[in-house]
Amino acid sequence: MEFSIKSGSPEKQRSACVVVGVFEPRKLSAAAEVIDHAANQFLSDILRRGDMEGKAGTSLLLHGVAGVEADRIMLVGLGKEKEFREKEYRAALSTAVRQLNETGGFDGTLYLTELGVKKRDVAWKIRQAAFVVQETLYRFDSLKSKKDEVRRPLRKLTFCVTRRNELATAEAALAEGLAIAAGVALAKDLGNLPGNICTPSYLADQARQLAKSHNLGVDILDRADMEKLGMNTLLSVARGSHEPPKFIVLRHTGGVSGAKPVVLVGKGITFDSGGISLKPGPEMDEMKYDMCGAASVLGALKAAAMMKLPLNVVGVIPSTENMPGGAATKPGDVITSMSGQTVEILNTDAEGRLILCDALTYVERFDPDCVVDIATLTGACVIALGHVTTGLLANHDGLARELFDAGQESYDRAWQLPLLDDYQEQLKSNFADMANIGGRPAGAITAACFLARFTEKYHWAHLDIAGTAWRSGKEKGATGRPVPLLTHFLMDRAARARKPARKRKQA
Ligand code: BES
Ligand code: MN
Ligand code: ZN
Repeated sequence: MEFSIKSGSPEKQRSACVVVGVFEPRKLSAAAEVIDHAANQFLSDILRRGDMEGKAGTSLLLHGVAGVEADRIMLVGLGKEKEFREKEYRAALSTAVRQLNETGGFDGTLYLTELGVKKRDVAWKIRQAAFVVQETLYRFDSLKSKKDEVRRPLRKLTFCVTRRNELATAEAALAEGLAIAAGVALAKDLGNLPGNICTPSYLADQARQLAKSHNLGVDILDRADMEKLGMNTLLSVARGSHEPPKFIVLRHTGGVSGAKPVVLVGKGITFDSGGISLKPGPEMDEMKYDMCGAASVLGALKAAAMMKLPLNVVGVIPSTENMPGGAATKPGDVITSMSGQTVEILNTDAEGRLILCDALTYVERFDPDCVVDIATLTGACVIALGHVTTGLLANHDGLARELFDAGQESYDRAWQLPLLDDYQEQLKSNFADMANIGGRPAGAITAACFLARFTEKYHWAHLDIAGTAWRSGKEKGATGRPVPLLTHFLMDRAARARKPARKRKQA
């Protein structure tokens, strides 16, 4: 798909279709008014006859409207003007794009980005538009032998801004939105691939390819390297599987050399059977998504590289299957982690924290400015926050705030849970420094408490994406979250790094 930005009058656009909004009940948006005027009240007549109420999710396609240059005019329902916010804005764009893709025209010119969205500027609206378009048109059909072909698919979209002096901002925002969308698409594709294709080795190959195409540094550690480093908790998870584990390190060096990096660590369990503490059968297929943290790290690095962010970023992915083979770790086994701390494994299904803790120890070598891990870590997080927000826990309030804000800005939202020391006692073990589970109460928090024991040397935050990384049921599929949040976080960091220190303090 090709994208461009324009400013100009809607009735003068030479396009297969010009898209304008209608608020409920029967109120034309500003651009629609202009068309109505040029078309001798053609639109108001339609509204008066009751053919378009302006309800969200509806649309009406008009052909050969006199007085306008475009072949078609599409009216898109926006819902009530008073209730028109981020969600409604995104929904309107999505409706428009879905309908445009079904028309015979190859291009569309959208006047929806002109609509006012409370507290959101042009840059936000354009970024979101680019993102929503890609989101709406996303298909995962690489494994189907017969693909649903759209007969005359959309090839070009133009977003319109009200004023000429907004063009430069909008162009920059478009590039950002497309970079984020590309990162999201990568994360979705990897997430949707089944465990028999997307193995740890496959992820390592993807990382190598990403490094090559986007000029990133890459290192892949094999089992022998991990053994040398003493990554025994990670290796204890890999023991039950025939697939070799991989430890992936990717580097984007856009910042000044020597500047401390932001480190992203993604859980890369390519299939989580639970191990000897085997999971129940129903929905076990969804445990192919247990590498969505890893996928989001690759996606965020891709977006950062496409934007050429002036920031040093390291992506780290511990990856293995969690399987119940004959050599698998057993409940009760005690393992010495890379940090030297010992762990009694009471449940082999709490494997995410076991691979992450060694990765979190490993990243000390980068002298990180901060570390953020991203993991489909606990079912308990889904119980706490559902599928709306990502769980956020941190050992540093400023970092938590930054991630929370990045979530608000990208509309890929997170919500903070308390990482209080009081929860630590639930991890007490009679046989080792800690147990790997903390019982049913506050499961998302005790999982983070476990990780906190390995992150005392730096500022750290944890994103539990168990409820947000994929959708179940009829619409089953990866969401690509939290790539938008992570990318915005990196963008904000890069912007801050560019400002002189004095200004930063005032802000
Ligand atoms: N990958 C799962 C978490 C998960 C489960 C995410 C369901 C999304 C949906 C994780 O490895 C796991 O199995 N966690 C256990 C931890 C428990 C044994 C303490 C869980 O949440 O049940
Ligand atoms: Mn598990
Ligand atoms: Zn898991």
